[in-house]
Amino acid sequence: MELPFAEPYKIKVTEPLHRSTREEREQWIKEAKYNLFNLRSDQVFIDLLTDSGTGAMSHHQWSEMMMGDESYAGSASYFKLKEVINRLLGMPYFVPTHQGRAAENVLFSAIIKEGDMVPGNAHFDTTKGHIEYRRATAIDCTIDEAGDTTLYHPFKGNIDLDKLEAVFTAHPREKIPLCIITVTCNTSGGQPVSMQNIRDVSALCKKYGIPVFFDAARFAENAFFIKMREEEFVNHSIRDIVHEMYSYVDGATMSSKKDAIVNIGGFLACRSKELFDKISMYCILYEGYLTYGGLAGRDLAAMAQGLKEGCDYHYLEARIGQVAYLGQLLKDKGIPCQEPTGGHAVFVDAKKVLPHIPKEEFQAQTLAIELYLEGGVRGVEIGTLLADRDPVSRENRYPKLELLRLTIPRRVYTNNHMAYVAACLENILQRRDTITSGYRITKEAPIMRHFTVELEPATM
Ligand code: F0G
Repeated sequence: MELPFAEPYKIKVTEPLHRSTREEREQWIKEAKYNLFNLRSDQVFIDLLTDSGTGAMSHHQWSEMMMGDESYAGSASYFKLKEVINRLLGMPYFVPTHQGRAAENVLFSAIIKEGDMVPGNAHFDTTKGHIEYRRATAIDCTIDEAGDTTLYHPFKGNIDLDKLEAVFTAHPREKIPLCIITVTCNTSGGQPVSMQNIRDVSALCKKYGIPVFFDAARFAENAFFIKMREEEFVNHSIRDIVHEMYSYVDGATMSSKKDAIVNIGGFLACRSKELFDKISMYCILYEGYLTYGGLAGRDLAAMAQGLKEGCDYHYLEARIGQVAYLGQLLKDKGIPCQEPTGGHAVFVDAKKVLPHIPKEEFQAQTLAIELYLEGGVRGVEIGTLLADRDPVSRENRYPKLELLRLTIPRRVYTNNHMAYVAACLENILQRRDTITSGYRITKEAPIMRHFTVELEPATM
């Protein structure tokens, strides 16, 4: 008999979880103004809000924490990280930052001006926020297939080359400071970008003289999908794939809270010394001196180790396998999910689960609240609340997809937890006709409103 799959690690430290009653949850979510970000973590049983900074570090990472060098300048931990970034990613220059959006802030401060256009594949919300804050425009050039949740496409994060070229021909070169390829593409469902697409986008950008950057938060998960789904790479190691991916870009912003499996950290890497000199100034201004960038020495050391572990094939097989396991459980129960399951999360198609709730009442948020009420599971809305208002017309933007993201932290939950989550959603599907109302906004911020928005039931 072929032996079944089992995780390539065992668990040394545990943390208790708190169960609660439905009555408690009804009270807590009301007090939280129906915004799941406002819940206390001990009011949550299984927390699938994000995979960002929520992973479990290995004992190698914890021992690196103890070895952290806390020197203000020239820390040994910085050089450890530098060596990994040079060797693993092939990037000669980098600055540490306290997280991914800080890397975006540093980079965009140096290169984006008012009126600029920044094409890419469905920019993440902080990326878009940083672009729009500078009165520039993020242009989504993702392939159309990504908008159809039922369609199988191996690389739904791919950029449509015609859409991209249309941006390049419609605007002068100096109005396009960069093109961003997000690997994997969070907004389109944790979907990967193929190596061929990375090559093609890079070649097109070169033709028009536009720098191309990765938003690299989940680059290792993207590399795993390339190995699994792109014929040419079946026999390549993850490290070789990663190296080749980075060889096509001019730089990358990184949220290390994802694929470097640390609780805090990020960096901005680039090839050009000239750009490095420019970003250095903003790094010092916003983050800190160039060898610590807003982090402790121990954070840099854990990040260096985590980057290596994040590229381990067996780790990635367990990680992406667990996400696929939850996706399969849900599909088997008839719950419509983004097809195929992404790298870090399962995206439930809320429009299909709650078709009778009007989109003006936030279908995906309604489903997220129901899931919390049902079993204390916290997911996150990737829909109209997140899409925010159009910066000019101030009208709600209704995205093609209304998704509930169930984001799996790395090395944290077991498959029994996944089965529990699937059972909660099955119960909701069975009683969905009893869910008769969505929500309306009572208070919102002018930008990135989903973090702090306050809601109430649309029909009280
Ligand atoms: N880019 C992508 C693709 C992301 O998913 C995130 C964060 C960032 C950039 C920003 O990084 O949080 O370190 O500042 N995503 C988290 C999430 C928050 O839940 O998907 P950060």
